[in-house]
Amino acid sequence: MKAVTWHGKRDVRVEDVPDPQIKEPNDAVIKVTTTGLCGSDLHLYEVLGPFMTQGDILGHEPMGIVEEVGSQVTTLRPGDRVVIPFNISCGHCHMCGMELYAQCETTQVREHGMGAALFGYTKLYGQVPGGQAEYLRVPQAQFGPIKVPNGPPDERFVYLSDVLPTAWQAVQYAHLPDGGSLTVFGLGPIGQMCARIARHLGHRVIGVDGVPERLEMARRHGVEVVDASETTDVPEAVRQLTSGRGTDSVIDAVGMEAHGSPAAKLAQTMTGALPDALAAQLMSHAGVDRLAALNQAIDTVRRGGVISVIGVYGGMTDPMPMLRMFDKGISLRMGQAHVRRWVGALMPLVTDDADPLGVMDLATHRVPLQRAPEAYEMFQKKRDGAIKVLIEP
Ligand SMILES: NC(=O)c1ccc[n+]([C@@H]2O[C@H](COP(=O)([O-])OP(=O)(O)OC[C@H]3O[C@@H](n4cnc5c(N)ncnc54)[C@H](O)[C@@H]3O)[C@@H](O)[C@H]2O)c1
Ligand SMILES: [Zn+2]
Ligand SMILES: [Zn+2]
Repeated sequence: MKAVTWHGKRDVRVEDVPDPQIKEPNDAVIKVTTTGLCGSDLHLYEVLGPFMTQGDILGHEPMGIVEEVGSQVTTLRPGDRVVIPFNISCGHCHMCGMELYAQCETTQVREHGMGAALFGYTKLYGQVPGGQAEYLRVPQAQFGPIKVPNGPPDERFVYLSDVLPTAWQAVQYAHLPDGGSLTVFGLGPIGQMCARIARHLGHRVIGVDGVPERLEMARRHGVEVVDASETTDVPEAVRQLTSGRGTDSVIDAVGMEAHGSPAAKLAQTMTGALPDALAAQLMSHAGVDRLAALNQAIDTVRRGGVISVIGVYGGMTDPMPMLRMFDKGISLRMGQAHVRRWVGALMPLVTDDADPLGVMDLATHRVPLQRAPEAYEMFQKKRDGAIKVLIEP
């Protein structure tokens, strides 16, 4: 089959690889019909190379049709239409029992001290072949796959793999008071959906980004926007909109590659130039995240407010402004999304033909697998108005 494989910084290719097979009795194999390109993939493309191996198959946002199931998978049968959560969870361990699926003890990558295995996401997360491919082997298929109805287009459901549950969790973790106010930093696909979900739940939302078409998309979904390219003091701009206090909560939907952190960018570039073993050491022991968005979030939230970090960070000793955080009495929540946990709340929204979250207004590009390398470059450079790219193998 054909698959998107990683070969180095900004070097992904479409290659012929062996077809996946059922290896365990609780595996399934699906034929992928649509699969997303995610901001998390861009971290692999740019800074997380030290944790990758040439030839790794990328992708963690697939949906498709079940081809084959192992003998222990009784809940699925060939022909079922399914969306695959990006984290691999068993559904029955201690952590899964608490719905902390991103910490599943059956798939935890203990060798690296990490949580549940993820599709297509570095050695740290188990080096599991990913979903930007014609076919995908799905471990723990007795629990993970989300069955969706036949009929509506893939675009209605594909975001259940990551974008929607991730954004839903970010809003839950923001712990907004009824009718409260929220600032969302970063209006990529995740930030867009955080903003729409918070609006749907009756909150006031201010979105921050510096990319015109992303600001425009947020605006057409009822979000007030602050253009980060036009103001040097975003937190002050938000305070001016909120009686001088800042919003009740803030979501950081930017993560480790935030614009505006020159020193950390240099560190990331330097680690990128080191031999892999050394770079991995440095990244695991030094603070090399670009913290501009997180620092602004800390500055923007009102006193006693909540920050929900959904953007991915990877430095081990990132410096944090503890004085400001302590004095303001900030609560901080973060982590990978526990995808399956939020599906029950989301399913009625994605199956509603009125499309309350506007899932049909997120993808800007749909490309065949063969064009994935160009799509990565376009999405990273935010060219051609790219906001969300879907790959159709
Ligand atoms: N926690 C999870 O489970 C989970 C799941 C999926 C994605 N993510 C993470 O969420 C983040 C966003 O993903 P995405 O697909 O939306 O990516 P994206 O790269 O499209 O979006 C990031 C956005 O942040 C903006 N930005 C950069 N610096 C900024 C700054 N200083 N202030 C305001 N905006 C700034 C960019 O212009 C861009 O629009 C990534 O870090 C991704 O890895 C986390
Ligand atoms: Zn993703
Ligand atoms: Zn588990």
